[in-house]
Amino acid sequence: PIDQKLYLINGELRYWEGAQEEAYSPIYVGGESGSSPKLIGKFPLLTEKESLEALDAAVKAYDKGRGIWPTMSVSDRIERVQDFAYRMEERRDEIVNLLMWEIGKSYKDSAKEFDRTIQYIGDTIDALKDLDRSSSRFVIEQGIIGQIRRSSLGVALCMGPSNYPLNETFTTFIPAIIMGNTVVFKPPRPGVMLYYPMLEAFRDSFPPGVINTIYGAGREVIPPLMPTGKVDILAFIGSSKVADSLKKQHPKSHRLRCALGLDAKNPGIILPSADLDLTVQECLLGTLSYNGQRCTALKMLFVHTQILDRFLEKFTKAVDGLKCGMPWEPDVKITPVPEGRAKYFLELIADAEKHGAQVINADGAQTSNTFFSPTVVYPVNSQMRLYREEQFGPVVPIVPFNDIETPIQYIADSQYGQQVSIFGQDIDLIAKLIDPLVNQVCRVNINSQCQRGPDSFPFNGRKDSAESTLSVSDALRTFSIRTIVATKEA
Ligand code: G3H
Repeated sequence: PIDQKLYLINGELRYWEGAQEEAYSPIYVGGESGSSPKLIGKFPLLTEKESLEALDAAVKAYDKGRGIWPTMSVSDRIERVQDFAYRMEERRDEIVNLLMWEIGKSYKDSAKEFDRTIQYIGDTIDALKDLDRSSSRFVIEQGIIGQIRRSSLGVALCMGPSNYPLNETFTTFIPAIIMGNTVVFKPPRPGVMLYYPMLEAFRDSFPPGVINTIYGAGREVIPPLMPTGKVDILAFIGSSKVADSLKKQHPKSHRLRCALGLDAKNPGIILPSADLDLTVQECLLGTLSYNGQRCTALKMLFVHTQILDRFLEKFTKAVDGLKCGMPWEPDVKITPVPEGRAKYFLELIADAEKHGAQVINADGAQTSNTFFSPTVVYPVNSQMRLYREEQFGPVVPIVPFNDIETPIQYIADSQYGQQVSIFGQDIDLIAKLIDPLVNQVCRVNINSQCQRGPDSFPFNGRKDSAESTLSVSDALRTFSIRTIVATKEA
């Protein structure tokens, strides 16, 4: 196990002599009998004092826009970020393994997440070069010449989620840094240990205070920060509830820019004209990739009664055919879920059963250690918690419908507004649905699952699902402001 005592503030790797917390894997080791969750390591449990020191270091490095980093040329900042990515790549194996152990994601998907993160950094650099070319230009109007720029905003507090501790978390701090802001960064938990191999690169690639890492219990180290009014950007990917509470703690007298990726309950709509094989395949990916622990997962399937029997037969068979196992096993699809989640899934299923639904796949609702077998629940209706709550796990609610208004009204009434998938070959009907739907969610997928990628596509949400946009080039705009240097024509 890793014994991490270091944390980074103001360019110094400080040694922590206080309390530490143990980080356990959701993967149990030691065989069936007497097995226990694997201990991955220990990390510092910092206090309010260190957290405020990290914030002050970021404030000092920004220095009201006069610091080395915010005044550095775009090309020099790009070089530093590129240097960081090279150093990170040198530690690929270590980081991928930690990712797999910490969150139980399959080795294949963990490696994919790492590579996608490197690609995200490269795409961000390319997008910034484009933005710089197109926005750093001269304009002449009404006798005034102006040079337009994109300038930094200040200090960002960056936090990402534990389901994508690399890719999504980098979505917060890479655009923040590259646009000249300075950062206080709290790694997600689980997902905290995999930042250990990156600490030296954070120190060596950037000037002191540009990135400051805080470790510990969120309820200890985060609450002191927002009320100071020194955080200019809140970049957070996680639950809507936490985001709301962080925003409320920020003093009204200071402006706050937010880049938030939050909860979602994306529905799939399966029309009578759907191609059954393709739909089952996409719904399988959409509902159960990484155990359904994706904000973009399909979390509800509305199935038209004309195709219902055929869909249920094929879908439940395909679900039971998914391989459950350890993340390193080849072709594994269902891996351990975080401690405590199985209890929540059983509660949701019991509530649905109380209101008349059933588990309809043979292998559903089985649990051992932190495994939870993929479970299809049918027929789900509006009385059930599964109809509203974001289950974020391998439980698939199926809602039968006769009238297309049923799923359409569900989307209109939902507190969330991220994505929807429509499955069908009836092009006229689908074309009619698209215009109203893009006004309610931010991505309409036709005959394909909901997903974020490619990361350069817009990735937004309406209502309680997001604030500002997190795709590559849009994020650069979110973390900066358009400014102009102007003079009169001679
Ligand atoms: O959890 C939210 C992630 O952004 C999902 O990304 O759709 O590529 O799995 P993904």
